[in-house]
Amino acid sequence: MLIDGYGRRINYIRVSVTERCNFRCQYCMPEKPFSWVPKENLLSFEELFLFLKVGIDEGVDKIRITGGEPLLRADLDKFIKMINDYKEGLDIAITTNGYLLKETAKRLKDAGLKRLNISLDSLKPEVAYKIAQKDVLKNVLEGIDEALKVGLKIKINSVPLKGINDDEIVDLLEYSKKRGMQIRYIEYMENIHANQDIKGLYGKEIVDKIREKYKVKKAGREGSSPAFMYELEDGYRFGIIDPHKHDFCESCNRIRLTAEGHIIPCLYFDEAMSIAEAVKKGDVEAASEVLREVLKNKPEKNRWDENPPGDEISARAFYQTGG
Ligand code: 5AD
Ligand code: SF4
Repeated sequence: MLIDGYGRRINYIRVSVTERCNFRCQYCMPEKPFSWVPKENLLSFEELFLFLKVGIDEGVDKIRITGGEPLLRADLDKFIKMINDYKEGLDIAITTNGYLLKETAKRLKDAGLKRLNISLDSLKPEVAYKIAQKDVLKNVLEGIDEALKVGLKIKINSVPLKGINDDEIVDLLEYSKKRGMQIRYIEYMENIHANQDIKGLYGKEIVDKIREKYKVKKAGREGSSPAFMYELEDGYRFGIIDPHKHDFCESCNRIRLTAEGHIIPCLYFDEAMSIAEAVKKGDVEAASEVLREVLKNKPEKNRWDENPPGDEISARAFYQTGG
C-alpha cells in the first residue's frame, strides 16, 4: 500500500505520455514557437509501464493518461491495452483536448478504455480559436460525438475566463447535459507559463451564473475527487474544481508521472524526483525507492489560496502534468 507522509493513501497515478500539444491554450502554453524537450528524453511505453506496475502492485487502481495532448503519441491504444491486460478492473481514463478523437476513439475503446475527460471551453468557433490559438472546435465536437457513439463515458472540463468564455457557462452545461456528460468547471490556476493577462472565475462566480437560470443545490464531494458537486432540480450534476480553496488536499490520493519520468507529488509545486534512470535499467527496486521518497515528502496542500500572501505564482507547467 502507498501511504504518504500525512497518512493519505495513494491509489491514483496520472501519467503524462508527452508534453507536446497541437493546441496553444492561453492558460497552459500560449507561447509559439515552443521549445520541446528533445524526443529522446521521453520514456517508452514499456518504461512508463514498469513504473505503473510498481504502483499497481501496491494497490493503485486508477490510472489517467494525460499530456500535453496524449493522442499525439502514436499507438496510445497499445499502452492502454498493456495496462488493461496487466490487471482486471483497473479504472483507466484519458484526458484529451479531443482534436484527434474522431480517428482514435474506436481503437481506444477496443483497447480497454472506458472513460475520457475532454477539454471544452467554448461552443463558438472564434472563441475556441482565441483560447487554443487554432481553429479547433469542429474537430473537437466531432470527436466527442464519435467517442459517445463507440460507448466511451465522457466528462467535460471547462476553464471559464473573464471576458472570453464566461458568457457560455450555461450553454456548455446544457450542451453536456443533453449528451449525458458531466461537466466540471475548473478555476483557472495561475502559473508562470500562461498568458499573464487572463483572469479566471472563482467557483462561486461560476455557480452564480448557473443560478441565474437554474435552481442549484450543493451535493458535496464524491470520494477523493477535487470537484465539488452541485445538482439541478432534475438531478443533473455538475462539478466545480476550486484549487483556490484547498480543502480537497486533505483527501488527495494521487501522484503524477511526467513523460520524462519525473514523479510530481503535487500539481502546484515544481519539485520532482526522477525514475528515468531506474526504469531505463529495468530496476524495479530503485523505481520503488524513489516513489517512497516522493511520498514521504508529498506536500500537505497546494498554494493557490484565495488571498495569496504576496504574488507567489506556481512554476509548474500544466503541459507536463495534464492538469
Ligand atoms: N488552470 C486550470 N485548468 C487548466 N488546464 C490546463 N491548464 C490549466 C490552468 N492553468 C486544464 C485544461 C484541461 C486539463 C488538461 O487541464 O482545461 O481540461
Ligand atoms: Fe494542450 Fe491541454 Fe495545454 Fe491546451 S491545456 S495547450 S490542449 S495541453
